[in-house]
Amino acid sequence: MFQIAPSILAADFLHLEKDIELINRCGDIIHLDVMDGTLVPNISFGFSVIDQVAKIARAPMDAHLMVVHPERWFEKVAKDGVQMCSFHWEAAGRSTSRFIEKLHALGVKAGVAINPDVPVSRLYPYIGKADYFLVMSVFAGFGGQKFIYETLDRVAALKAEIARRGAKALIEIDGGVYADNVRAVEEAGVDIAVAGSAVFGAPDPAAAISALRGA
Ligand code: DX5
Ligand code: ZN
Repeated sequence: MFQIAPSILAADFLHLEKDIELINRCGDIIHLDVMDGTLVPNISFGFSVIDQVAKIARAPMDAHLMVVHPERWFEKVAKDGVQMCSFHWEAAGRSTSRFIEKLHALGVKAGVAINPDVPVSRLYPYIGKADYFLVMSVFAGFGGQKFIYETLDRVAALKAEIARRGAKALIEIDGGVYADNVRAVEEAGVDIAVAGSAVFGAPDPAAAISALRGA
């Protein structure tokens, strides 16, 4: 099933409750972009926000940790009831398998994320270990960037490798997803499409989610 994960990075932080309720009602997954200003050149929000979101979240929460030392936050993520947590391969390197195991021990689904300039084959060692792979379709750090179309070839390659190994893993794509490219995203084999600006930048976010679903 193709799922839509609205990113609250583009939400109205003065009225965040309204936007979380919208995702509860119309979206599939609440995507939470945590940025530390070191791994990526921007700072977003941290647990003071996630703790509050967790109180009213009915859709599953998906934390995308764009931070160095992501493992320092895994327990906190689990405690908040976040069901899915991804960290960047660029931050984890040779600790990637260990970090996946750490998330699993805490009962959290583990995702490995990569930026567009990292060969997609870097993810292959974690097929059969990670629950999902987050393939960035823009460089992590900011919402509202332009979709990088080459990402679809990377998704297809990853998808083929997962199938070749008879493994199971979902593929999530993140950045620049709009109604005009989302069908190509779905056809490439993506399972979860993150969308920030396309949802919260629209005059009618609920209708924008429907449009992303192709409804
Ligand atoms: C970017 C974030 C994305 C971002 C997507 O680093 O990981 O989740 O919110 O925003 P849009 O959909 O506006 O590109
Ligand atoms: Zn994200």
